[in-house]
Amino acid sequence: MTNETETETTAAPPPTPTDAWRAALSSRKTEVANPGAVPAAAVSAVDDVSRRTFIRASFWSGLGLTLLGSVGTLVDYLYPRNVRGFGGPVPAGNVKDFAKGGEPKQFAEGQFWMANLDPAESRPGGSGGAEGLIALWRKCPHLGCTVPWISGFDYEGDKGWFRCPCHGSTYTKAGVRVFGPAPRSMDTMKIEIDGAGNITVQTGSITLGGPDNPKRATKI
Ligand code: FES
Repeated sequence: MTNETETETTAAPPPTPTDAWRAALSSRKTEVANPGAVPAAAVSAVDDVSRRTFIRASFWSGLGLTLLGSVGTLVDYLYPRNVRGFGGPVPAGNVKDFAKGGEPKQFAEGQFWMANLDPAESRPGGSGGAEGLIALWRKCPHLGCTVPWISGFDYEGDKGWFRCPCHGSTYTKAGVRVFGPAPRSMDTMKIEIDGAGNITVQTGSITLGGPDNPKRATKI
């Protein structure tokens, strides 16, 4: 009986599951990660950032180039080239073709009348004291009818006026409105004269008509 009791008191207790885990854990070797030893991890992070940057840069550059191309195409399409006739330069003969104070001449291609104003033509429908060439757009500023020069038209006892057939707006030889519903005088166009006296009218360069029309005459 005594031996059995001693044996019971000196025998080591069976290991518990917790002790077994502790022993297993303490036997494990845990290595501290060495960043230098795992370059792949570090490199992939850098790669990821640079890839994102690259994709973003590619996107914005592509978008920018597309927009630039579209704008360039539009500008190229709208840019006037070799415009002929109305809207561009139209030859209007030579200064010798226009007698001072003579009847205005029509240039259908450029849609204008050309007159050589004589400051001595002081009648109501005359030059308004101006001297030189003036190019008048034949389009009536009221509703756009073509305005003819009518040498026999009598307005208030004076003959020779621009007279619109649509609603009767009446203008002097310098294109100054004196009667009718037109909101302003006839519009004028830019005149260029070269050294040989050849005249070119820039029909795309139009100035709205006004009482100062006579002052726009180009002396020759
Ligand atoms: S369009 Fe010339 S007066 Fe009306």
